[in-house]
Amino acid sequence: MRLKSQILTGANPLKTIKARRKTVENTVVVGAQFGDEGKAKITDLLAENADVVIRYQGGSNAGHTVVSNGKKYKFHLIPSGILYENKICFIGAGVVINPLDFQKEMTELISDGVSEAHFKEALKIHPLAHVTMPWHTEIDGYSESALGKNKIGTTKKGIGPTYTDKYARSGIRVEDLFNEETLSEKLDAILPLKNKSLEKVYGLQPYSKEDVTALCRKYRDIFAPFVCFEWQKVLDDTKRNKTILFEGAQGVLLDIDYGTYPYVTSSNPVGGGAAVGASMGPLAIKEVIGVFKAYITRVGEGPFVTELTDETGEKIQKIGAEFGVTTGRARRCGWFDAVIAKYSVLVGGISSIALTKLDVFDTFPEIKLCAAYRNVKTGEVSEYYPTNVYTHKDYEPVYEVFKGWMCDTTNVKSFDGLPDEAKIYLKRLEEVSGAPIKIVSTGPDREQTMFV
Ligand code: GDP
Ligand code: IMO
Ligand code: MG
Repeated sequence: MRLKSQILTGANPLKTIKARRKTVENTVVVGAQFGDEGKAKITDLLAENADVVIRYQGGSNAGHTVVSNGKKYKFHLIPSGILYENKICFIGAGVVINPLDFQKEMTELISDGVSEAHFKEALKIHPLAHVTMPWHTEIDGYSESALGKNKIGTTKKGIGPTYTDKYARSGIRVEDLFNEETLSEKLDAILPLKNKSLEKVYGLQPYSKEDVTALCRKYRDIFAPFVCFEWQKVLDDTKRNKTILFEGAQGVLLDIDYGTYPYVTSSNPVGGGAAVGASMGPLAIKEVIGVFKAYITRVGEGPFVTELTDETGEKIQKIGAEFGVTTGRARRCGWFDAVIAKYSVLVGGISSIALTKLDVFDTFPEIKLCAAYRNVKTGEVSEYYPTNVYTHKDYEPVYEVFKGWMCDTTNVKSFDGLPDEAKIYLKRLEEVSGAPIKIVSTGPDREQTMFV
């Protein structure tokens, strides 16, 4: 399938959308490992057939790369669907937004050629999304240093503290910025306690109400052109008449409930997260595509049973260019872990698989896949995921070994055209993961994709 994107010129996209009927099923794109699986590439591909793209969780901790016509675009908060002329892109209620990060990302995309007029036309922010305030970022930084060797390895973008305040019912939402009277009431309620904890717990500077009010005005001005106050009408129409792509960030193993807790992010990347974060409920979702790499990477701390700390791991890292988009940190690399995959398919609600970065193995004479974990203390072998991560040091991977294909797959155009060894590896991967592979990717570009 050949897909083509257009960078915008400012034409009115709504006319095109109104004329369309719903033709494709609403799909969620979920990261199925520890993030950075290539979700943005898959989202970009599938966005071709969607009218509306809704990001449903996370914040500027995400780093999403899209390569279009040989040019690289980087996204953190803004749905990558913005690269199309005729899509509405929603930053959903489940997302947390740092206004300054949002502004920076937009400025960079504008310098990459996306017009400002198009942003104003196509990008919408949900008024119920929470705002990352400066104290959130400060607390994130402080907590990480205070944890010392037990640190989570966060992106230090203030994500955890923003969600903490959301659930503690002391967060500031985008809509709050647009009503000074109620904002004032809210600040009176939350600032005294926040300041007490900033000073007494974290040893940080308190914030005066005047300063926060001034900051909120600045944030309001940044968000003003994009906030969709009529979201109920827009999303009602979207749900009834439009094809929706739900865009996830991070990955199932970083999910606050199902990930390698406490080495997780603070939101719900699982497919179910889309039902809440995109204001649509579960029945709006027809398909959940889990994006897996042909191996696994992880940034930050936390257990990783198939991690390779030898030259094989280095080779994957080098060929796969495994460095974080948001923090530039080197990603830890390891063999594909089917125990994780099976778990991810279950709790992520994954109905099919998009497998990326198969090409990274083009020069590997041998490839391993972890089919089960062996408990070194008891000798027990299991294909089910042990959720208490403090026990992971007791597990070793049980590997199946596959012959490599030792040829270039980056120009293969169809699944049938893949070398037999690659097909055997993929077939087994599909079998042990428990969901069908629908998409295989052998390069960052859109063209380097095959639909199975
Ligand atoms: P995301 O956070 O899941 O969207 O993934 P990232 O953008 O953080 O990291 C994935 C990286 O792999 C990006 O640089 C992509 O351009 C690149 N990529 C995606 N699919 C493929 C593929 O099939 N092969 C190769 N070699 N690179 C890919
Ligand atoms: P995308 O969307 C990979 C990781 C951090 C850390 C943990 C908690 O590009 O896949 P946080 O800042 O969220 O509190 O950090 O989660 N993390 C990611 N790892 N890809 C991401 O996003 C990530 N977002 C957060 O490294 O281990
Ligand atoms: Mg990423």
